Amino acid sequence: MLEQIKETNYNIRNKTAFDEIPEKMYAWTLRSESLGEPIEAYHKELVDVPDIGDDELLIYNIASGINYNGVWAALGKPKNAVKTHQKYEKKQDFLICGCESSGIVCKVGKNVTDFKVGDEVICIGIQYDKNCEVVKKTGDPRLSPSFRIWGYEGNFGAFAQYSKVLEVQCIHKPKELSWESAAGCSATGGTVYNMLTHWKGNELQKGDIVLVWGGAGGLGSSAIPLIREMGGIPIAVVSSDKRGEWCKKLGAYGYINRSEYDHWGILSDELFNDENAYKKWLKNNLKIRKDIYKIAGKKEDPKIVLEHPGRDTLPSSIFLCAKKGMVVLCGATTGYLGSLDLRYLWLGIRRLQGSHAGFSTDVESYVNIIKRDGYPLPKVDVYDFEDIPMCLQNMYENKKLKGNAVAIIGKKPEDQ
Ligand SMILES: NC(=O)c1ccc[n+]([C@@H]2O[C@H](COP(=O)([O-])OP(=O)(O)OC[C@H]3O[C@@H](n4cnc5c(N)ncnc54)[C@H](OP(=O)(O)O)[C@@H]3O)[C@@H](O)[C@H]2O)c1
Repeated sequence: MLEQIKETNYNIRNKTAFDEIPEKMYAWTLRSESLGEPIEAYHKELVDVPDIGDDELLIYNIASGINYNGVWAALGKPKNAVKTHQKYEKKQDFLICGCESSGIVCKVGKNVTDFKVGDEVICIGIQYDKNCEVVKKTGDPRLSPSFRIWGYEGNFGAFAQYSKVLEVQCIHKPKELSWESAAGCSATGGTVYNMLTHWKGNELQKGDIVLVWGGAGGLGSSAIPLIREMGGIPIAVVSSDKRGEWCKKLGAYGYINRSEYDHWGILSDELFNDENAYKKWLKNNLKIRKDIYKIAGKKEDPKIVLEHPGRDTLPSSIFLCAKKGMVVLCGATTGYLGSLDLRYLWLGIRRLQGSHAGFSTDVESYVNIIKRDGYPLPKVDVYDFEDIPMCLQNMYENKKLKGNAVAIIGKKPEDQ
């Protein structure tokens, strides 16, 4: 491992334009036969450094964001990502996860126009064919059949010394951002930026209350200062006072401690038909609503609810959302089979909006905000390359420390 890292450092320091790219690299891989909890599923292997195509770049990864896709891929549920990626490219029997990174361009394909060898870049997780007619017509790559998440549905992700990426995934890394912040800003920051700004009629407006589930997690801790910066009133939901106090430091007006409630989960027929159980469900939600008013200092409901726990929280999200407001959902950590009391949806003219990832323009807009002097960047927990499976395991068990997580992979040019 160390020898391999030395060799790549030499290439940077020597400014030989990476002409000595090694044939092999270290990577954390997943294979179909060993899927399961992250700590067991990932194996460190020496694999070939990938070849690149005409539209692709080879990146020397300095830091890799560690996010929840690495958990889903390890579990192999709801889909076996090791098999899915084979749909998009040359067949490999392993998958290298990791869907965001910061690094240095060390090779470019002949169709790449905006990047050259030696450029410092942020690699974001969305891959698609830029010539796809759907993308050209709609401007929304998520609608394209070629759309996939790099390091999950596309191979050669960021949990490796080198990654293969498309030009559409790269943006120039601003000097103001550390390698660590740059690596961990797109999957969460870009996604929440899209959630808050993309959905016409429900874009965040000044003075709007936004309820942020998992305020101390990756998405939540990226959302809180951003909402504040955009003039909104972020209120976090967390599972401990410690996490809640930390969210306040990030800019949350206050927090709801969800461990003080026990009405979570699906709304079953059984619950609905049991008068006492339904009353209790209602009472808990009314209490949360009252707490929101108290924290916000006004009798207004959240115009936007940032949803990602899914199954366990969706019924409350719809109930707590303002009339004509939006519950915008980008994940379902607690389960995919959600439930709703549909009356709250239609009687309150509420919107339940699915949202997925952020475009490179979202990440650029987000980066332009967070690179400003004095912006309260959320904490980034920094791990060693060796510790990626352990960090993912903690994430899976909701034991991860606060904020985003990244792993340092290569040596920073300024440290050489
Ligand atoms: N579609 C996309 O583009 C996209 C992008 C990023 C993330 N995601 C998805 O969003 C989800 C969260 O990602 P993340 O990076 O924020 O993960 P994270 O850093 O692990 O944070 C998740 C947070 O969810 C909260 N949580 C856990 N169990 C909960 C429950 N039963 N009820 C309510 N809250 C619960 C936890 O906060 P407390 O325990 O303190 O409440 C935790 O801090 C994942 O499923 C991920 O795959 C999707």
